[in-house]
Amino acid sequence: MIGISKITGYFPQRYVKMKDLAVARCEDPQKYLIGLGQEKMAVVGGNEDGVSLGLNAVKRLIKDLDDREKSQIKMVIWATESSTDESKAASLNLIDTLQLPNNGRYFEIKEACYGGTAALTLAFAQVALHPETKIIVVTSDIARYGLKTKGEVTQGAGSIAMMVEDSSNIVLSPFGQSAYYAKNIADFYRPQGQNAAIVQGQLSNQSYLNFFYQVFQDFFKKQDLVPEEIKLINFHLPYTKIGLKGLEKVKDQVSLSTYEEWVKLFNQGKALNAEIGNIYTGSLYLNLISNMLQGNFSSGDLLGMYSYGSGAQGEFYVLKVQQLWKMPEIEDLFINRKAISVEEYENLYRETTSNLNQTFNSEGIRHGDFYLKFIKNGERFYEQA
Ligand code: CAA
Repeated sequence: MIGISKITGYFPQRYVKMKDLAVARCEDPQKYLIGLGQEKMAVVGGNEDGVSLGLNAVKRLIKDLDDREKSQIKMVIWATESSTDESKAASLNLIDTLQLPNNGRYFEIKEACYGGTAALTLAFAQVALHPETKIIVVTSDIARYGLKTKGEVTQGAGSIAMMVEDSSNIVLSPFGQSAYYAKNIADFYRPQGQNAAIVQGQLSNQSYLNFFYQVFQDFFKKQDLVPEEIKLINFHLPYTKIGLKGLEKVKDQVSLSTYEEWVKLFNQGKALNAEIGNIYTGSLYLNLISNMLQGNFSSGDLLGMYSYGSGAQGEFYVLKVQQLWKMPEIEDLFINRKAISVEEYENLYRETTSNLNQTFNSEGIRHGDFYLKFIKNGERFYEQA
């Protein structure tokens, strides 16, 4: 069976409490906590970038593979909108750092937060053509809007990695046909050379919700399935309140009891997204992991997946839970997380660089985790702390 055999993630150790950020920005904390539904936001230092986060996620993903299994990895698709290079794919860094095979295809893929879903869909199709291969899908991003902007509260950072293959160990498999919808709009974009996104916040909200309504309806028109058969919906969550708005949007499409059950499960399952913030390409898959850790679904359940990438592309698809879950083993990342002040966060924010030559130390990085050690003539070098 084709599907995802393992999913795991990695998140920076430093975070800011939303309450503290609200006070520093002269906002009512309830706006951030209730109005947007966020508790904390993961923060990176200059010694972390989209590549280092992804290296750490993949290290966790492949930790139990033997040499023969590693040699079956024939493709690594890296989905990101935090690219550190306009040309070279981030996934190539895995060859040296984690000894992945040279005999493979490594590339990067982009369409804002939708990139992870595009990569996963491609991986399913590729494994169907070459059932003997394993494919790694990496989503890795640092959400950046700028200090003291309206988008600042919806930042975050992290990486989710997934193994796709044709095997008897599949835990999630694609079910039925996806529904998708695209439109050329400027709700959110990041021109070359800019390190923070330009966003029309309310347009992005409307577009996210309208696309959801469209693809949700289209999905159920396409197949012999009714919404009531879906256990819960995982959302791309730039902030968690938007998932509730999504459910409200399709309330008239489902029975009241299903709507109420989805809202209950959503509220239980949003925890990790509220703790970490937006991780762009990985956000939907973080919500999936979060629901998994809450025990919100079990074998045989069908899970709705709503993916949205600004620009804009939306997709609704369904995954079927095939076996009792192998947990993503990420709990250790939350044991010694460090709360930092708004001032420390602002200093770290300014550390992110596009300098062509710079050296970093391993401050704020856990022992054994990858970080950006130095940049030489624009080339980035990573090491384990
Ligand atoms: N107590 C409780 N709630 C309060 C409050 C208070 N004191 N004050 C305000 N609120 C509520 C508001 O009523 C509002 O809730 P509703 O929408 O349910 O009415 C909520 O808090 C947010 O208030 P505003 O809309 O006034 O917030 P804002 O204008 O400052 O910006 C934002 C919010 C547009 C999300 C902004 O943070 C932003 O631009 N973020 C980046 C863009 C983004 O995340 N867009 C989401 C869709 S795009 C996407 O999904 C792709 C992606 O990842 C970027």
